Amino acid sequence: MLHKIDKIEEINKLPNDKFLPKENIKTDLENNPFGHYLIDVENDKIIAYLYYSDIYERAEINQIEVKVFNRNCGKATKLLKKMIELVDKNITLEVKKDNIPAINLYKKFNFKEKAMRKGYYQGIDGILMEREQDR
Ligand SMILES: CC(C)(COP(=O)(O)OP(=O)(O)OC[C@H]1O[C@@H](n2cnc3c(N)ncnc32)[C@H](O)[C@@H]1OP(=O)(O)O)[C@@H](O)C(=O)NCCC(=O)NCCS
Repeated sequence: MLHKIDKIEEINKLPNDKFLPKENIKTDLENNPFGHYLIDVENDKIIAYLYYSDIYERAEINQIEVKVFNRNCGKATKLLKKMIELVDKNITLEVKKDNIPAINLYKKFNFKEKAMRKGYYQGIDGILMEREQDR
């Protein structure tokens, strides 16, 4: 089941899980007034999450992660679909050049490469990608 968490008090309805500690969500939401979490919970365990920022005219993916045992069965696809539906605006993100699973995921959703940040991640290039809002 997908939970959308925008406020600190909503964190209480989530299970305790080392994969995504409640303390981390709390810190992110306290420090980022534009921040939102989409969290997929199955059998009282967090199996995947998407942390994004909805910043005026655009949105940005800060992180998307699926538990190793739950990968390759559409969990990230489900989260990203939901985010696109909720924000309804252009979405940007940055991804390491060698992160092929993530790049393929973003391309599947029509994200295009916009710029390259040389050596951004301790020597590995960062690719800035953008998806234009569906019209
Ligand atoms: C990237 C990640 C979120 C994908 O999650 P997932 O639930 O396995 O993805 P899905 O099953 O929804 O797959 C969606 C698409 O991603 C791509 N993809 C996923 N895993 C892949 C792999 N191992 N190799 C190549 N492409 C892959 C495919 O294009 C796939 O589409 P398809 O099934 O139609 O071929 C997951 O691998 C992950 O948590 N990685 C670690 C965290 C991370 O790197 N996050 C991105 C930070 S920018």
